[in-house]
Amino acid sequence: MLVLGLETSCDETGVALYDSERGLLADALFSQIDLHRVYGGVVPELASRDHVKRMLPLIRQVLAEAGCVASDIDAIAYTAGPGLVGALLVGASCAQALAFAWDIPALGVHHMEGHLLAPMLEEQPPAFPFVALLVSGGHTQLVRVDGIGRYQLLGESLDDAAGEAFDKTAKLMGLPYPGGPEIARLAQSGTAGRFKFPRPMTDRPGLEFSFSGLKTFTLNTWQQCRAAGDESEQTRCDIALAFQQAVVETLTIKCRRALKQTGLNSLVIAGGVSANQALRQSLEQMLGELKGQVFYARPAFCTDNGAMIAYAGCQRLLAGQHEDLSIKVQARWPMEQLPAL
Ligand code: KG4
Ligand code: ZN
Repeated sequence: MLVLGLETSCDETGVALYDSERGLLADALFSQIDLHRVYGGVVPELASRDHVKRMLPLIRQVLAEAGCVASDIDAIAYTAGPGLVGALLVGASCAQALAFAWDIPALGVHHMEGHLLAPMLEEQPPAFPFVALLVSGGHTQLVRVDGIGRYQLLGESLDDAAGEAFDKTAKLMGLPYPGGPEIARLAQSGTAGRFKFPRPMTDRPGLEFSFSGLKTFTLNTWQQCRAAGDESEQTRCDIALAFQQAVVETLTIKCRRALKQTGLNSLVIAGGVSANQALRQSLEQMLGELKGQVFYARPAFCTDNGAMIAYAGCQRLLAGQHEDLSIKVQARWPMEQLPAL
């Protein structure tokens, strides 16, 4: 089954062709980062309008790259939520219009299920069951995964998502959007031990997270440095490192707990923050101690992309799922509501 995947939940237009027999044939992405950067974050209306502009050229591009024509496509998968409603509607309308015109089925895919399954596109995919740490700009969740659609939420953030904390921390130190890669870059030149940040909610049992306090801690630290006349690049790097270490260690402690609680020893990390090298290293070390394994996608498939939507959609389409002709998207959509395969 050849599936065209469309991702438009936020500020990236992602399009891909995935074939159930031949694997990923082509994928293309247009990132709107430059468009939103001047505003310090994503402007939803601009995002929607840009998806409209990029969608059809990207579809033509992946067809050409894969050496396919439209009539080769068997089904279309599109992100139906969670995300920005206007942005989601672009992908959903486009998918439904093409599916109607080509007389093929279309299926709305859950964006976080897409992230969760992205490591399946790699050479050594994880096997069920595993614990998944989903860390993106909008979500921080620990999930027990027993199969596609068999998700048990173990814990999540009570306030900011990990990626959101990276973005806000970067912004308050005057760094551009998106903050995650910027903080990671500065942290490489940071002096370990100069600042010590808290590890929120690790001193009590449970698998919940809270990252908004870390952002306030960064703000206070940065303001104290500025008040003392120190706004140097080195200080930014030192704060970036202390912040990143706090997030990484907090996530690592909670992942270890989740593995212990479930008795599992394979961990999948997915979503934009799973591209973070320090996080990968820390989790690899922890899983090494537990004689387990960590799985993640290549960096381009950690952040938003069409390939993960094509893949997740393909699994569900193969099982016979598809939508009717109505165009439905959901800004909020708990992943546990998805049907099991
Ligand atoms: O999964 P994603 O592309 O979009 C959402 O579904 O939200 O995640 C984007 C988030 C942003 O907050 C971005 O700052 C963060 O992932 N991110 C990173 C890194 N690369 C992207 N955070 C930390 N380190 C990175 N290398
Ligand atoms: Zn995402």
